[in-house]
Amino acid sequence: MIVLAVCNHKGGSGKTTSTINVAAALGLSGFRTLVIDLDPQGFLTRMVGLPEPPEANSSLVLFDPQVRLAEVPVQPRKNFDVLPASSTLSKIMRRLNQPTDVLWVKEALEQAPLPYDAVLFDTAAAITVFSLNALVASRHVLIPVMPEYQPVLGAEQTFQTVMMVRDKLNPTLNLPFFLFTMVDARKRNHHAYRRYLRQRYGDQVMSSIIRTSTTLSVTHNDGTTVFDHEPHGRGARDYANATDELLRRIAPERMDRAVSMLSREGGRGPWKSITHLG
Ligand SMILES: Nc1ncnc2c1ncn2[C@@H]1O[C@H](COP(=O)(O)OP(=O)(O)O)[C@@H](O)[C@H]1O
Ligand SMILES: [Mg+2]
Repeated sequence: MIVLAVCNHKGGSGKTTSTINVAAALGLSGFRTLVIDLDPQGFLTRMVGLPEPPEANSSLVLFDPQVRLAEVPVQPRKNFDVLPASSTLSKIMRRLNQPTDVLWVKEALEQAPLPYDAVLFDTAAAITVFSLNALVASRHVLIPVMPEYQPVLGAEQTFQTVMMVRDKLNPTLNLPFFLFTMVDARKRNHHAYRRYLRQRYGDQVMSSIIRTSTTLSVTHNDGTTVFDHEPHGRGARDYANATDELLRRIAPERMDRAVSMLSREGGRGPWKSITHLG
């Protein structure tokens, strides 16, 4: 099972948008995918059209030793399932102050086999016990980053946090991937920030980029995504390519299936024609 945390300490960097669209691309590629909203603000939950969930059907259950995750009902969306966030998450945060409180989600995932090929966590723009839980439970990390000064700084701080978690709490965590989002290739500084991160982090900076796209900025509130609304548009192509690249890096043995499924869904051959930032 692929377990991936989407993190960046800077807000507005495209975390939630990336979680939803990578999940949809995985779903379209035949991966049974579960998205877990661990942001107490629950933006992902709202963006996929779900109301405030009953606590017992929300990601709060991960912090309850009485509950088995495999028995919790999840919310089916078009290409993936969602375990939504309850606003009560912010209330229990103060109680989760013991060193072992970073282990809850990992233990919940390990309780029993889940019927999923991929689990993705969306996290808040801060180092909280919830984002630490996501990192401790994950094998992979995606850091969406806008090519601007503060977001790049936030992404580098996030990288440091991930390395700290890897050193002290989760040695199975792989080096994170940076994914540039909201890229405008006409802007010189966007190229400059990409060169900067490439020099420092090499291949951990993904070749695929997510360009600014009106379709991506529109929320349909029903669990549908760009893959439904504009399957041949740049938003769908960019997230399809980014997901392909991620799979090539973290699960190469499943790539053939992924690419062929996506191209069949798209009906226009593999979405490979994307421009990469130089
Ligand atoms: N590629 C994109 N093009 C245009 N708008 C985008 C794109 N990605 C995200 N957005 C918009 O930017 C805002 C912040 O994105 P979001 O995914 O919520 O970031 P985060 O979860 O990191 O706070 C949202 O309004 C979203 O619709
Ligand atoms: Mg968000």
